[in-house]
Amino acid sequence: MTPLLEARALSRTFPLGFGAGRSFRALHDVSFTVARGESVALVGESGCGKSTLARLLVRLDAPSAGTLLLDGRDVRAGDGGFFAPGPSKAFRRRVQMVFQDPFGSLNPAHTIGHHLERPLRLHHPGVDTEARVRDLLDAVGLPGHLAGTRAANLSGGQRQRVAIARALAVEPDLLVADEPTSMLDVSLRAGVLELLARERAERGLALLFITHDLGAARAAADRLIVLYAGTVVESGPTEDVLARPLHPYTRLLVAAARPGDLRAPLPARSGTTSPVDAGCPFAPRCPLADDRCRASLPLLHAASGARAARCHLVEPM
Ligand SMILES: Nc1ncnc2c1ncn2[C@@H]1O[C@H](COP(=O)(O)OP(=O)(O)O)[C@@H](O)[C@H]1O
Ligand code: SF4
Ligand SMILES: [Mg+2]
Repeated sequence: MTPLLEARALSRTFPLGFGAGRSFRALHDVSFTVARGESVALVGESGCGKSTLARLLVRLDAPSAGTLLLDGRDVRAGDGGFFAPGPSKAFRRRVQMVFQDPFGSLNPAHTIGHHLERPLRLHHPGVDTEARVRDLLDAVGLPGHLAGTRAANLSGGQRQRVAIARALAVEPDLLVADEPTSMLDVSLRAGVLELLARERAERGLALLFITHDLGAARAAADRLIVLYAGTVVESGPTEDVLARPLHPYTRLLVAAARPGDLRAPLPARSGTTSPVDAGCPFAPRCPLADDRCRASLPLLHAASGARAARCHLVEPM
């Protein structure tokens, strides 16, 4: 069956300073799919390219190479041509994003009602916006009277809930949520995860949930994608990957994670400049690295049980 979203060999390169033509490959050869109604967690430590990938998926940024497909069609095909650059209105209705920082994502001078009414007017003209705003606030566990309150007067937790409500307002098919709970108190995190789970159950929302928290990934996702230095190093059903990680990096993550936190001690990353100049990007930290690892980048290959791994030592299926 055609996946809802498919990333095919996405790469993103950023120029490094002026002159010399040097560049930094933040993402390299990233391929995966998200099915309708599926929840996929993208995990990896800080700086591995999660937010860069999120921005490509919602088309706030364009890949240096590779293709993004929605319902099997190249997303660029729906754009409005040269005079209408950027994603089409139809794409924006179907794919929405929640950013990590609830303080940066809302205009503090505008009311909550304003933030929620705008997408409704744009994508669902004719809808009773006042009633829908109340419903949306209710869905994210906020009182209706907040509609008249400026974003500046809300707490971080309340703002993140409004940001989620705004993304859900247009009834998207896919929500890309970039560490939506990382800036919230522990007490509020479970509430946000429950809210997303409810949207999935009731509306068939698909979710790409970006996190460094394995506990949250386990709670929220059917499938796990592990990103390291801009490449997918492992993917598979969440419980299988966590119970039997194949890639040495995933093994380290699972072993080293304090309850729920991937920022727990890992061997220090050395040589941070480029993820994939030559060889396996994990080789400088890998206890199993040999000459072959330092010489050639392994391909992401299928392993048993709907798993995939990018490691010379993992047996291909
Ligand atoms: N606009 C940019 N210009 C140059 N480098 C960037 C840019 N955006 C991200 N990067 C680099 O790409 C890498 C991945 O960043 P990011 O996607 O934010 O990681 P994560 O979200 O996993 O913490 C980092 O090394 C970051 O410095
Ligand atoms: S390819 Fe080699 S260096 Fe890379 S993860 Fe596998 S064993 Fe380690
Ligand atoms: Mg990030």
